[in-house]
Amino acid sequence: PENVGILALELIFPSQYVDQTELEAYDGASAGKYTIGLGQQKMGFCNDREDINSLCLTVVKKLMEKHNIKPEEIGRLEVGTETIIDKSKSVKTVLMQLFEPHGVTDIEGIDTTNACYGGTAALFNAISWVESSAYNRRYALVVAGDIAVYAKGSARPTGGAGAIAILVGPNAPLVFDRGVRGTYVKHAYDFYKPDLTSEYPTVDGKLSIQCYLSALDNCYQLYCKNVAKKTNTNIDLSYFDAVLFHSPYCKLVQKSLARLALNDFIMLSKDKRAVKYPNFESFNDIKLEDTYFDRDVEKAFLAYSKDIFAKKTDPSLLMASQVGNMYTPSLYGGLVSLIVSKTAEELAGNKIGLFSYGSGLASSLFSISVTKDSAQKSALDKLVSNLSHIKPLLEQRHKVSPEKFEATLEVRKENCHKVPLEPSGSIETFFPGTYYLTKIDDLHRRFYNRI
Ligand code: ACO
Repeated sequence: PENVGILALELIFPSQYVDQTELEAYDGASAGKYTIGLGQQKMGFCNDREDINSLCLTVVKKLMEKHNIKPEEIGRLEVGTETIIDKSKSVKTVLMQLFEPHGVTDIEGIDTTNACYGGTAALFNAISWVESSAYNRRYALVVAGDIAVYAKGSARPTGGAGAIAILVGPNAPLVFDRGVRGTYVKHAYDFYKPDLTSEYPTVDGKLSIQCYLSALDNCYQLYCKNVAKKTNTNIDLSYFDAVLFHSPYCKLVQKSLARLALNDFIMLSKDKRAVKYPNFESFNDIKLEDTYFDRDVEKAFLAYSKDIFAKKTDPSLLMASQVGNMYTPSLYGGLVSLIVSKTAEELAGNKIGLFSYGSGLASSLFSISVTKDSAQKSALDKLVSNLSHIKPLLEQRHKVSPEKFEATLEVRKENCHKVPLEPSGSIETFFPGTYYLTKIDDLHRRFYNRI
């Protein structure tokens, strides 16, 4: 099959949020730390009525309803998540409740986990399946979802929650470029979840930033090398119309775009640098691995890339700033943000770079070409128009005070793995179509209803 890519997207996020300015004050952090320092506006969060199963049920059901996809049209279903509620039973098997009643049980694929990278691993599996001998002309559906919560402290404002469903198949309006992906995987203890009784990660904040930036350097350079090999042209940031990143918080993304400009500088010969980057001679002999926290380098390249950021990356940060780090869906929430900021005409023909990072660590930089083929025009129009609800829905959310936010997280913490459980959280403000947990019985079996 040719032009394998994204046919449709659906994104969900919590119906309640805490305001980051209010949270700064409540936490006793200096004014501006979360909003300017981290670049976060609002943070979505879930009460004890929502878990990873309910989020994924909601997003899959919504995608299938909106796009009129019949259960028998799905041949592969993959879930990427790091929100683990069972060490054996996958979320995928829970999602089969949407298919079994229709007599559909022959769906390949299962869950994939490595921090925020699981969704990307699931997506790559789905692409491989469509391109393989096992492909049976049905769609692949990739689901990525997480509830990102941190213990009280400096990491807590970088939480979030949400889920995305990505319909994959041939002749798509958003086509995955072949043979150019750059991947970087290695062993690191930057962020991990060794305590299986807790939702909270163990995190070394500074190390996680260093790991993220070094993974970005490696993936980008490999991606550039692969494109050069394939097309016989050297590329730099100008190759992309949009550059999207996994977003732990928006400020790191702005620094990451600046980091790519730094990589462009490093990859250029010294004589060419002098022309393209006048006044940067003092950086001629720097080594990338010495500069993760180098203020001078950071400042210079942030300034250099300011306009590129505004044009190519900032439009992709709507979800990241308004909902927070969704973990596995974060990068794809960036794609949705980009799409809702543009018209189908503006998107047609665009080259989109995407950087996926999961602590531990696994990372890839890959790209999407938006079709400019008139045969695919109506598919692109449909993909874009089916996301028109996203911006208004963000505005319909309910603001909750930091006190109530903290109390809600305390309830989640107390109820984590407690059985039997009758959840007490309100379902009143949930958006229509939301699945929610009704009870967990004494055998840890979970039951759901839909609004
Ligand atoms: N006004 C404006 N800016 C401020 C203010 C203020 N009042 N106060 C602080 N800042 C700035 C700081 O200067 C800093 O800027 P810099 O990043 O340019 O240095 C920024 O706000 C953050 O302040 P720090 O003191 O560095 O924050 P802290 O160390 O308390 O926590 C951290 C930040 C480490 C990101 C923490 O939130 C965390 O651990 N998060 C989870 C881990 C994470 O997301 N890692 C990223 C990759 S891995 C992943 O995706 C999970």
